[in-house]
Amino acid sequence: AVELSLRPRYLNEYIGQNQVKENLKVYIEAAKMRNEALDHVLLYGPPGLGKTTLANIVANELGVNLRTTSGPAIERPGDLAALLTNLQEGDVLFIDEIHRLHRTVEEVMYPAMEDSALDIMIGKGPSARSVRLDLPPFTLIGATTRAGLLSAPLRDRFGVISRLEFYTVDELAYIVSRSTEILGVEIVGDAAEEIALRSRGTPRIANRLLKRVRDFAQVRGDGVITQALAEEALKRLQIDPRGLDEIDHKMLKSMINSFRGGPVGLDTIAATIGEESQTIEDVYEPYLLQIGMIQRTPRGRIVTDMAYHHLGLPIPPRDGK
Ligand code: ADE
Repeated sequence: AVELSLRPRYLNEYIGQNQVKENLKVYIEAAKMRNEALDHVLLYGPPGLGKTTLANIVANELGVNLRTTSGPAIERPGDLAALLTNLQEGDVLFIDEIHRLHRTVEEVMYPAMEDSALDIMIGKGPSARSVRLDLPPFTLIGATTRAGLLSAPLRDRFGVISRLEFYTVDELAYIVSRSTEILGVEIVGDAAEEIALRSRGTPRIANRLLKRVRDFAQVRGDGVITQALAEEALKRLQIDPRGLDEIDHKMLKSMINSFRGGPVGLDTIAATIGEESQTIEDVYEPYLLQIGMIQRTPRGRIVTDMAYHHLGLPIPPRDGK
């Protein structure tokens, strides 16, 4: 599928996250030299920054199989036992949204991670006993939007904990250019930059915007993506020059109009604009914080002068000024 082929398959094709990449390269090489399974890896950071892609790459670089699942998909301890007993030595098990593992499942995970062992209960009532089953050594790669969402005992069992950062505009422009080559579409001038600027530091968004811009180029243009065409297409998608969308605008405007710029609590913002608190915290807020449109204070979120300026609104007079 096209979606998958835009993803890099080896570390040397993967753009950005240089610190994480260089460290992983060492750990992978060391594990291969010792002929051991790579230690368990926790990847955290906002959605779309390449956690799943990295898990695939790690398995490719190690030359092992990858099994992919997600926290909520593993409903019972038996589901996890089935996954673990089907792994071959050194395989990677990737669990997305690992913070959503059920408690009962999480407890089966501890001995599996620590001792490559599965403790299963046999029987019920007074005659019940636990039997330990050896597993092949394996690597768990867990992904989550925030490391703080994990229970401490689970987090402590990861040997490698890496935070993914938002990408720079240059990195995103490079990713867009790479993707246009794979898609076989022509892009000229500063069009890749234009898309990169509006991608919120996120490759998944960059590639999605590129595909929509390509649609406009094909239907409304001659197939070539120019900067003017990219700008026009992105305007139609209601993506502003900093990459903010309708929900970002709604959030900022509601903080300004209903709460005089804050401080206002996350749950209050969420209720006012009809979004989930968790979605705002994981998806919208990190980028707005990163570019300085909002700030977190002990009393809640506040809108910065930059946000007023960006929205073309007058900065209100403040107490004490
Ligand atoms: N496509 C999506 N993410 C990428 C990355 N980090 N490097 C290269 N291509 C990508």
